[in-house]
Amino acid sequence: MTRYEELLSTMALAMQPNAIRKLTGLLSSNKVISFAAGAPATETFPIEELAEAAARTIRDRGHYALQYGPTRGLSKLIEEIATYMRQRGVTDVKPSEILITTGSQQGIDLAARVILDPGDVALVELPSYVGGIIALHNTQAELVGVHQDERGIKTDELCEKIERARKAGRRVKCLYTIPNFQNPSGVTLTTERRRELITIADKYNLLIIEDDPYGELYFKEEAAHLMPLAALNPSRVIYLSSFSKVLAPGLRLAWLRAPEEIASKIETAKEGADLSSSLLDQAIVLEAIRCGLIKRRLPMIREFYALRCHAMLDALAEHAPEGSSWTKPLGGFFIFMQLDGKVNTTQLLPSAIETGVAYVPGQPFFIDSTGTNTLRLAFSKESPEKISEGIRRLCQVLSQKV
Ligand SMILES: Cc1ncc(COP(=O)(O)O)c(C=O)c1O
Repeated sequence: MTRYEELLSTMALAMQPNAIRKLTGLLSSNKVISFAAGAPATETFPIEELAEAAARTIRDRGHYALQYGPTRGLSKLIEEIATYMRQRGVTDVKPSEILITTGSQQGIDLAARVILDPGDVALVELPSYVGGIIALHNTQAELVGVHQDERGIKTDELCEKIERARKAGRRVKCLYTIPNFQNPSGVTLTTERRRELITIADKYNLLIIEDDPYGELYFKEEAAHLMPLAALNPSRVIYLSSFSKVLAPGLRLAWLRAPEEIASKIETAKEGADLSSSLLDQAIVLEAIRCGLIKRRLPMIREFYALRCHAMLDALAEHAPEGSSWTKPLGGFFIFMQLDGKVNTTQLLPSAIETGVAYVPGQPFFIDSTGTNTLRLAFSKESPEKISEGIRRLCQVLSQKV
C-alpha cells in the first residue's frame, strides 16, 4: 500500500480545506431559505448581453482570443482598469503595476506566496474572509488576528500585536484587510482608520493586502467615495478587486495593482501557476466594459442588494432575540450577528435547517477559534420576501436557545 503521507509536502499536509465552501454547498438546497452562500444573485447576471459579447468576441477576434495570452493579461483590459483605478483615486497608477488574475482568490494566493516565508507573521482581521485566511495559511506563515469594531480594524490593537510579535523575534510582513463592507462582518473601515493603517504600515515597514471585491456595491452615498488604501499610499499596498460581484463570478476574472517590483514577482509566480488567466474571458470583459455594460448596470445592482439588505435589517429589528446585536452594512452582501451569552451557532445550525433556514456559523472566520456565538447572514441570494420569512424562522430558533 502506498503511504501517501510520506510523499506529500509539508505544505500540503498543513493545508486546510475551506470550511465555509464545504458548508455552503451542503446548505444550498432549494428547500431552505439560505443566508449561507456569499455568492451574487443569479438575477444580476447580464446573460443576454454576455452571450452577445462572447459571440462577437469569438467571431470577430477569435484568432486572438482563443490563443494563449500574456501572463500579465490583455493589455487593453489593463488600460481600462488603470483608467478606473485613477478614477478611484490611485492617480499615478501605471499599467506595469496591474496584473489580471483568475479571480481575486488567485491574487491573494500569489501575493501571499511572494511575500511570506514559513514563520513570518501576517496580520488578519477578526473575523476575516476564509479564502484569504487559507491562502495566507498555506504559506506556513503565522497568522495573528486583530479585532474590529464598527469603524473597522482596531489600530491600537494592531500596533500592540505588531510590537508583541517583533519582541518575540518574528518578522511581521503584511496585513490582509477588506476595508469595504467586509466579508463576513459587513463593517467598513473609516477614513480616519485608513490613514492610520498607512501610517502604521510606514512605521513598521509592512505591506497591506487590500481586498476590495465589494467596493462598488455601496448602498449609501457616504460609502460611494471612500478612498482605497492604495490611493493613500500606493507604495505600501497591494490592491485587489474583481469582476465577480459586478458581472459574474463564473468568468473568474479579477485584477491586482501592486508596486512595480512586487507586481513583477507576482507575474513570475503566475507564470508557474496558470501561464495566464483565460484570454477569452478577458476579451469578453473588455467588450463588456467598452459597451458600458458594467457601468450602466451598477446603479441597478446596488439598488437590488440595498433592498435585500433593508429587508434583512427590518426583519432583524422586528424579530431578533433580546441581547443580540448585528452590523448595519453600507454595502456588500453580509450582516454579522452576535448572540447573547454562550450560544453556540454551530450547534444551533441543525435546528435552523429543520425550520427551513440556513446561515454560516461565525467561528471559522476567526483564526483564534473565538466567535462561537456569532453568525454570518448573506442577504445576496434570497428575495426580500424570503428574507423576511427566513429571519422570522431563524429568530424563533435563536430565541428558544438564547
Ligand atoms: C473578501 C473576498 N475576497 C475575495 C473573494 C474571491 O473573489 P473572486 O471571485 O474574485 O475570486 C471573495 C469571494 O467571495 C471575497 O468575499
